[in-house]
Amino acid sequence: MQPDADAALHALLTRHGREPHALLQILRGLQAALGWLPPRALADVAQALGVTLAQVQGVAGFYRFLHQRPAGQYRILFSDNVTDRMLGSHALMADLCRRLGVVPGRVADDDLVSVDTTSCTGLGDQGPALLVNHHHVITRVDGKRVALLADLVRHRVPVAQWPPAWFEVQHNVQRADLLLGDAAAPGAALAAALARGPEGLLAELKASRLRGRGGAGFGTAQKWELCRNAPGTERVVVCNADEGEPGTFKDRVLLARHADAVFEGMTIAAFAIGARQGFVYLRGEYRFLLEALEATLQRRRSAGLLGLNIQGREGFDFDIRIHVGAGAYVCGEESSLIESLEGKRGTPRIRPPFPVESGYLGLPTVVNNVETYCAAAKVAEGGGAWWAGIGTAKSTGTKIHSVSGDCERPGLYEYPFGTRIGRILEDCGAKDTQAVQVGGPSGTCLSAFEFGRRIAFEDVPTAGAFMVFDRSRDMFEVARGFAHFFAHESCGFCTPCRVGTALVVKRMDKLAAGHGSRHDIDVLFELDKLMHTATHCGLGATACNPLRDTILKFRPAYEKHLKSLYFEPGFDLDAELSIARRMTGRDDPGAYLEGAET
Ligand SMILES: Cc1cc2nc3c(=O)[nH]c(=O)nc-3n(C[C@H](O)[C@H](O)[C@H](O)COP(=O)(O)O)c2cc1C
Ligand code: SF4
Repeated sequence: MQPDADAALHALLTRHGREPHALLQILRGLQAALGWLPPRALADVAQALGVTLAQVQGVAGFYRFLHQRPAGQYRILFSDNVTDRMLGSHALMADLCRRLGVVPGRVADDDLVSVDTTSCTGLGDQGPALLVNHHHVITRVDGKRVALLADLVRHRVPVAQWPPAWFEVQHNVQRADLLLGDAAAPGAALAAALARGPEGLLAELKASRLRGRGGAGFGTAQKWELCRNAPGTERVVVCNADEGEPGTFKDRVLLARHADAVFEGMTIAAFAIGARQGFVYLRGEYRFLLEALEATLQRRRSAGLLGLNIQGREGFDFDIRIHVGAGAYVCGEESSLIESLEGKRGTPRIRPPFPVESGYLGLPTVVNNVETYCAAAKVAEGGGAWWAGIGTAKSTGTKIHSVSGDCERPGLYEYPFGTRIGRILEDCGAKDTQAVQVGGPSGTCLSAFEFGRRIAFEDVPTAGAFMVFDRSRDMFEVARGFAHFFAHESCGFCTPCRVGTALVVKRMDKLAAGHGSRHDIDVLFELDKLMHTATHCGLGATACNPLRDTILKFRPAYEKHLKSLYFEPGFDLDAELSIARRMTGRDDPGAYLEGAET
């Protein structure tokens, strides 16, 4: 390797160690230093970590933010969620490409710049957004910013000298309740947990009936107890900060504004289950939060809230490391996340065993969402009965919603469970609303007659996204965008999802091109059924949710695209026969399909 590559690898090995599970972090770091991952560097990494070159290439090839070919000195990725598109991101990207003379997805001939799209960057409240070099985020992109950005790139101005206002990320907390309100003093919840002891703490958590906020709603006390009771002496606490579900950005704000509460919740979990190691899996798109998070961890170590003998409790040793992802939605699924933490490709594991029995490096592992840890810290402080008194019987406490799309005041809204959809729409200033996509593409699409329904596990469950669409929006196009998202993010491990998501995209594109028929809609229903039952993980199982909901509730949006109510082939059969006509020298009406029919 070149001397600077050698030096970069040496520094990364010193920082992350020489264990194979450091692989992804080392590749990320090496790419940050070199701009891409040359073959020679991959070989040196393989040698240093004692793994095969094929293993290193396999990991480098899995993650979208890792490049095995030069990807440009400036790598610009436009966030491609539906809400970015509604704010004009496609036109802005086309404008930037035109100004820079590049084709989307291709690196400029002089290796200066590449411009492409990426899945939602978690900035739906301040889009359109883009990422520069997988590190810096630019919010509220507009024509003026695009014009200046093109100039800065052309003149090779370092990103550190670009206008600081571009990189400002606002919290946009519009309605705060228990979690987004005033933060408790660092250590207060932990002191309460220590005073209760692990069993007392678990009893409070059970009484609170807290359920996970990452989507599935599993009982938090039950999860922690299963892990605590699993055989073995070492345990691990993992915070899922992957937040890849399009339209969700609540964890971004919790990590930026309430990092102490997140770490406190993790430390309480460690106390309850007896863990010494903790990890935050931070999505690659939130790399910009890393330095502040590291500083908070350091402050907590200095204050005796992390490290050895925490808060003076003999033998209570626990520390947290941050692992940065590299652009793969499937890594939010807990078993893929653990694979990724171990430095591997993020392929979901076969379960059982579940992570509580065998997770990180085979150790019993608790994986919880960022918001769940914040809620657990509140329960430790306020007690289970207090928490259970808020919300509904089956869904206790509060829930944070990331509101974006067609509304006057996008941002975070925290309400007790049981709040009606209509109330949230009213508060965020949504007008003439046609639909709300709750919980992201894998969640539920609600139409106006359902706005009286409530946010709760027993009615409308959600991981936190709340995307609003007014009557000017084409719900078919919304669903088509989500179909492309799932096909793009499928990890390819199992055939029903790999092929199924591609077939869904083909059908939706066929409908969009005006070649669809009622038969294509029937096929979409069949694919939904198949993928619900036959896929290996939740990504494939939920991939057709937005199609099913929108076909059922917004059928005219689909019918508008139908050419015929009956079968319509995806290609022009008559045109395909033109070669045969030329070869046989026939041009009579009988040589044409239309003619043959009459
Ligand atoms: C494809 C897929 C993506 C997921 N992404 C996330 C995510 O970004 N954040 C999250 O907390 N949970 C995500 N989950 C759910 C996790 O697998 C897991 O249930 C969750 O982290 C458990 O935490 P909780 O009990 O606190 O909800 C995802 C699941 C699937 C199937
Ligand atoms: S369902 Fe999709 S994402 Fe999940 S394992 Fe199969 S291919 Fe991968």
